[in-house]
Amino acid sequence: MVDENNLRDHAFDGIQEYDNNLPAWWVWSFVGCIIWAVFYGFHYHWIGTGKIGLDALAEENRIAREIQIAMSGGELSEEMLQELSHDAGRIEAGKAIYVKANCAMCHGADAYGNVGPNLRDNHWLHGSDMTMIVVSIRDGRNNNQMPAQGHLLAPNDIYNLAAYLADLNRNTPKVDNKTSSGKVPEGDITPITY
Ligand code: HEC
Repeated sequence: MVDENNLRDHAFDGIQEYDNNLPAWWVWSFVGCIIWAVFYGFHYHWIGTGKIGLDALAEENRIAREIQIAMSGGELSEEMLQELSHDAGRIEAGKAIYVKANCAMCHGADAYGNVGPNLRDNHWLHGSDMTMIVVSIRDGRNNNQMPAQGHLLAPNDIYNLAAYLADLNRNTPKVDNKTSSGKVPEGDITPITY
């Protein structure tokens, strides 16, 4: 409602203005914005439970990848497996599975080999591609002298194991394609290049 008494004193070119209250809808949407900004700030900036920008993109990619892995049924492309082999979380998880699944019994606690071959040199009996390492673990080799793990471990556990072994191998110094300690090399020279 226009209140004639509410007319303010000042004038510009003969134009004057009323000193009315702001409409309630305007005030409340303003208050609402401030409250929302506080929640937004906490969620996205201060405690970081929400992701924005490149972080949000990375998170979306991660989720898409996890879905692809979950639906893979143990079959992933070499490219994707190689990418997984650089994932710190998977490498760490694989290390724990190596102990739990008794790999150490035949390959040694540090994977330098025992009954089974040395997994840290540049020599591989069945190739050093991630796919080959995954298949060795999943399906076993040489009439189960390397025992198949496919019925004991989930595909994700096997990917993690392979990531751990690839990382360990990459980070082991070699002289003439051999490690300075551990079992003598077996198989062809096929260094991990990914
Ligand atoms: C009973 C002993 C034994 C156990 C337990 C065992 N392995 Fe093996 N592993 C072998 C033998 C023996 C070979 C070589 C097979 C061959 O001659 O082809 C092998 C081969 C492999 C290879 C292929 C190596 C290459 O040079 O291509 C990988 C990878 C491997 N094992 C990983 C694992 C992992 C991971 C585990 C734990 C889940 C494990 N092994 C448990 C005995 C074992």
